[in-house]
Amino acid sequence: MNYKTSSEQQMIELGKKIASDFKGGDIVLLYGDLGAGKTTLTKGIASYFGIDEVVSPTFTLMQEYKVSKSASTQVNKLVHIDTYRLEEESDLVEIGAEDYLGEENTICIVEWPEKISTILKGKKIVKIEIKHEAEDERTISMSFRT
Ligand SMILES: Nc1ncnc2c1ncn2[C@@H]1O[C@H](COP(=O)(O)OP(=O)(O)O)[C@@H](O)[C@H]1O
Ligand SMILES: [Mg+2]
Repeated sequence: MNYKTSSEQQMIELGKKIASDFKGGDIVLLYGDLGAGKTTLTKGIASYFGIDEVVSPTFTLMQEYKVSKSASTQVNKLVHIDTYRLEEESDLVEIGAEDYLGEENTICIVEWPEKISTILKGKKIVKIEIKHEAEDERTISMSFRT
């Protein structure tokens, strides 16, 4: 599936829209350069699940949210991982990320997933690629891998 957005707000709206297709246990991988809009899209997805404030996990690596409003059945947790400053995959394992990846009732969103390819190997994923085309223009492609 391919999409195009021309503003930050449109990217948030897209996040809300695609979030309705996500199920508990999904691992959503966000590929794209710095400033592509990965965190912005995450805000939209989080908003769909009733989470209004997304704190960037750039320094904490991982941020966990309780899904208050059950927009979708069987999703009670949203985990946002940002590996931008991660040095070794094992550092993420140490803070318990592996327990969340693919866990029932939990949706994980990962920025910079290329840095944790070993951890993600063989897991069922939703892959989203964001390309920064021009100033505010972004193209987004999404595919499901079972
Ligand atoms: N169409 C768009 N989609 C997403 N962000 C956009 C768009 N147009 C401009 N922006 C701006 O680009 C930046 C994206 O930042 P962010 O979401 O943090 O990127 P990333 O997490 O990929 O590094 C924000 O400053 C946002 O306002
Ligand atoms: Mg980001």
